[in-house]
Amino acid sequence: LNYTNIMDEIIYEEGISLLDFVNIKEKINTAYDKVMQKCKNDELGFMKIIYDDILIYYELKEYSKDFDNIVVIGMGGSILGTQAIYEGVKGIHYNDLNDKKVYFLDNSDPEKTFEILNIINLKKTLVFAISKSGNTAETLANFLIIEEKLKGITKDYKKNIVVVANTGELKNIADREGYKFYRMPENVGGRFSVFSAVGLAPLCCMDIDIEALIEGAKEMDKLCRNKDIFKNPALMNATIHYIAYNKGKTISVLMPYIERLHKFGLWYRQLWAESIGKNGIGQTPVISLGAKDQHSQLQLYMDGLKNIIITFITVHKFKYDLKIRSSNYLNNRTLSTLIHSEQKGTEISLTNNKIPNISINIDELNEYTIGKLIYLYEMQTAFMGELLEINAFNQPAVEGGKIITRKLLEECPVDEIKESKPTKKYC
Ligand code: PA5
Repeated sequence: LNYTNIMDEIIYEEGISLLDFVNIKEKINTAYDKVMQKCKNDELGFMKIIYDDILIYYELKEYSKDFDNIVVIGMGGSILGTQAIYEGVKGIHYNDLNDKKVYFLDNSDPEKTFEILNIINLKKTLVFAISKSGNTAETLANFLIIEEKLKGITKDYKKNIVVVANTGELKNIADREGYKFYRMPENVGGRFSVFSAVGLAPLCCMDIDIEALIEGAKEMDKLCRNKDIFKNPALMNATIHYIAYNKGKTISVLMPYIERLHKFGLWYRQLWAESIGKNGIGQTPVISLGAKDQHSQLQLYMDGLKNIIITFITVHKFKYDLKIRSSNYLNNRTLSTLIHSEQKGTEISLTNNKIPNISINIDELNEYTIGKLIYLYEMQTAFMGELLEINAFNQPAVEGGKIITRKLLEECPVDEIKESKPTKKYC
């Protein structure tokens, strides 16, 4: 975590200086103590689950080898982390490169569900239905559609279904039918749950090394338990964002310069928004992707309202690289040199324009490093909640919307429309 670009009051009148840290020293200590105390009281299950036994997933990994496809059904915290890790490790075109295909059903958009069902052979698909509450409308709906189709094509449909839940209708169905079931712990919030069965059960079937993932999280946990803010990257980054927020930086832009981290950005967006956006306060998370968004949002960041703080993520070694031949200044450079230079150029330019920016540097992006990165942000969010004096672990506004949707559905008449017919042979 490199924060040298913001720690200079001489450069920025609105920048952050050591004095800012000294001024809120007590507050930082209190935030740290509260997080550690909550962990001791068993309130922060996300800090404990990384020490759970992961051997239970190896049987599932073996079992999944008989299937050609994996479909994960879930919403928000029950699916975004899995997507972030899968894409972060495997890449954005892995389905085209690999025999086993992975699909994420994370919406109630009928076109999406229909198209996925139209692509896959359901009989050869292992379906994960994941919901802590067990009652989330989109998850339940997609699950019920797929379950019914499976029942229609095979007597052995039970073999194709794995449920991860804590309670609710989904759990009731799993109990009744005897589906493979993993329990999501009660004291782990949805968006903090990727290191529980929510993420580990599907990820181990996607050829992700969950042991390395958890090792990364544990390594970061060690750092984040340090009381000294200069040795604790999560406490440091939370404090930087807290000070920036109090200086009018109401938008936090995350800008990785690697496509594999785009889904991580979506995961971060949910974590930051849903955890700290409440009681009339909050910092709006925005995800940008370097270098392409330099040609999109950068004008605004550079020259618009001075209300943002930017975090770059740079991965130093790419999986593959390509050389650019015979042309002006690009001559004999690689694409990795180009994208790194673009990141550096943007960073320098933002700094010259007095836009606060920090950077996270990762040597290589793999299970271990993405495990570290995710856990860093989970801890940072916990500290930020305490600094802002809000409960980072509830989401009353989201729950409100869910209740209203349910009521509207109960009141509206049953649909008369006919279902669309698949065009492929499988369904
Ligand atoms: O972070 C959260 O709590 C939410 O985003 C939930 O994960 C999301 O609403 C899905 O809820 P559930 O897992 O109960 O289906």
